[in-house]
Amino acid sequence: MKRAYIKNIAYYVPEKILDNKYFESILDTNNEWIVTRTGIETRRMAREDETIFEMGLNAVKNLQNKGVDLSDIDTIIVPTVTKDYIFPSMAGQIQKALGLKHCFALDFSAACSGYVYALNTITALIESGQSKNVLMLCSEKLTKDINWKDRGTAILFGDAATASLITGREDGRGVLAMDMQSEPDLTIVLNGGSACPIRAEDCDGADFKIYMEGGETFKRAVTEFSNSIDRVLAKAGKSLSDVKFFVPHQANLRIIQAVAKRIGLPMEKVSVTLNKFGNSSSTSIGLALNDALEKNKIKDGDLVLFTGFGGGFTWGSTLMIW
Ligand code: COA
Repeated sequence: MKRAYIKNIAYYVPEKILDNKYFESILDTNNEWIVTRTGIETRRMAREDETIFEMGLNAVKNLQNKGVDLSDIDTIIVPTVTKDYIFPSMAGQIQKALGLKHCFALDFSAACSGYVYALNTITALIESGQSKNVLMLCSEKLTKDINWKDRGTAILFGDAATASLITGREDGRGVLAMDMQSEPDLTIVLNGGSACPIRAEDCDGADFKIYMEGGETFKRAVTEFSNSIDRVLAKAGKSLSDVKFFVPHQANLRIIQAVAKRIGLPMEKVSVTLNKFGNSSSTSIGLALNDALEKNKIKDGDLVLFTGFGGGFTWGSTLMIW
């Protein structure tokens, strides 16, 4: 049986680093609160004129710099919550930039669950035979949507892009099971769609920036992380003790620690990059995976668990034999 597999991954982050001292200078906050309540020390911020297309293309070039040939890509999937255009899609722009003729390109948004939703969707495309070589590109410019006056959210988010090459293999390794759920909820909102269209005079208004009830979101994230992990393990006939490495969404270190404790994994077996990059939505899991691979923390044959949770709400997991 053909299973989907992450064959390679690369990333790009903008040059500008925002540290916690910067937030001390603009908000009633301090480094100690931010580090102890979130785990975040720095995050990246794109240039004003830097688009998600440019960031995404840089991640793609970094993938090519690893020797990856993208000429036989037949599918491009971009799960992003921060679009450059309503259309054309970001995936279509990347298809054009790569000069790919026989390819289909699709954007969708599942907020911070984007990486897992895309990985699971691509798994289904590969298992069905529809797709063979898939480029999954995550690119987010969340700093354009930050309410810089809200200390509860401004400190959390950063910009980044990741490019993952996903193909099929038949040697038993790859995705074993997946789980996805969502539930309409307005605890995290970003206006600007047809329900609440943005007008020129609203551009800097708080209603058109990221709004989040942090406490409620935190509780829900811990609960649904755990529920999703239970379901994906049950689908694969595995138990918590079989999981060898955990790559979670990077929203808050306390959420990650609570879930790792429940799984029974020591933190050395959990990838954490939010200290450097904050929460960069769909790119967070890719950044965390890339970091774990660069540090040789994941071994061939390890059962790796990916879990995401995002606004919407959305949540999901993927279980993969590396
Ligand atoms: N600096 C200092 N104090 C801050 C602060 C900051 N940056 N942000 C919030 N506070 C204050 C609040 O105003 C509140 O003060 P009060 O008690 O006087 O009202 C107090 O800290 C506690 O606020 P609360 O929101 O309960 O803090 P928290 O411990 O829940 O941490 C988050 C806030 C946002 C960091 C946390 O809730 C979180 O990470 N939420 C989940 C994020 C998530 O899962 N996202 C996934 C999808 S994106």
